[in-house]
Amino acid sequence: MKSKIKKAIFPVAGLGTRFLPATKSIPKEMLPLVDRPLVQYAVDEAREAGIDSFLFVSALGKSAIPDYFDKHPNLEAKLHANGSDELLTKLQNSNIPSGSTAYVRQGEPLGLGHAVGCARNFVDNDEYFAVLLPDDVIKAKPGCLKQMVDAWEDTQASIVGTMEVARDQVGNYGILDLESAQGRLAKARGMVEKPAPDESPSNHAIIGRYILSPHVMQLISTTKPGVGNEIQLTDAINAEAASGRGVYGYQFDGHRYDCGSMAGFLKATVDFGLDRPELKDELLDFLRETLAEFDKVKS
Ligand code: G1P
Repeated sequence: MKSKIKKAIFPVAGLGTRFLPATKSIPKEMLPLVDRPLVQYAVDEAREAGIDSFLFVSALGKSAIPDYFDKHPNLEAKLHANGSDELLTKLQNSNIPSGSTAYVRQGEPLGLGHAVGCARNFVDNDEYFAVLLPDDVIKAKPGCLKQMVDAWEDTQASIVGTMEVARDQVGNYGILDLESAQGRLAKARGMVEKPAPDESPSNHAIIGRYILSPHVMQLISTTKPGVGNEIQLTDAINAEAASGRGVYGYQFDGHRYDCGSMAGFLKATVDFGLDRPELKDELLDFLRETLAEFDKVKS
């Protein structure tokens, strides 16, 4: 097995129906969180973790994504000529160098496992790879994937990012069946996609961050449709655990925003906005005033 994780898969084929009509003509992954599109957060997190090859599993209507990561020579030349160095750096930081990115298509929405499986020719059978779901935006230091890569250095086995959720929320996630836990790392006996609360093996939910063994890629090809009649990534990882090769959950240190939902997107916008020194004071004043107005109306 190769000793480093260098490749990451970004499933970006989803329709984004929860954000219609905004997503009628732009991919949901391009919706801006403050001043960066959602997908940029996942790419930056992957870079921080040492990833140097980026594979997007895309679909019809998503061509804004490859355009976004391309170098824009005209714009760069203009900013350079204007002396807009700060903006130029920001712009260049959004580029992925030629040859480090690839796009494959998922022709039909057959599930997350199927989407990841579409990248099978990109991953060698002697290397672990990462999967990042750009809807899950994670604020963490170091970044969530970096934390997981550090844990992987010890386990050398598949790891899924996890967080604890309320019992009534388990039906929204893949949930781990835990065998043992030590600190942030827990060994999983197995996992189940979107269980009913009374059948859930735990409240340890999988978030959209994965480090997977090449066996999982092979297992995807034999995974039958599961919940929602979709080929579930969780089911393929469950088969990996059942095979006796270890699978772990890593309870990351940080905050996850579900930017696939409108409420999550708004919360992330506020949090990431407050992080920006040039926005913080104005935004805080606005939030305080708005809350005071709300309280007045209530009383
Ligand atoms: C997907 C996975 C699920 C995971 C979740 C994290 O579900 O299938 O196991 O817990 O992402 O965001 P989705 O949100 O696509 O329904």
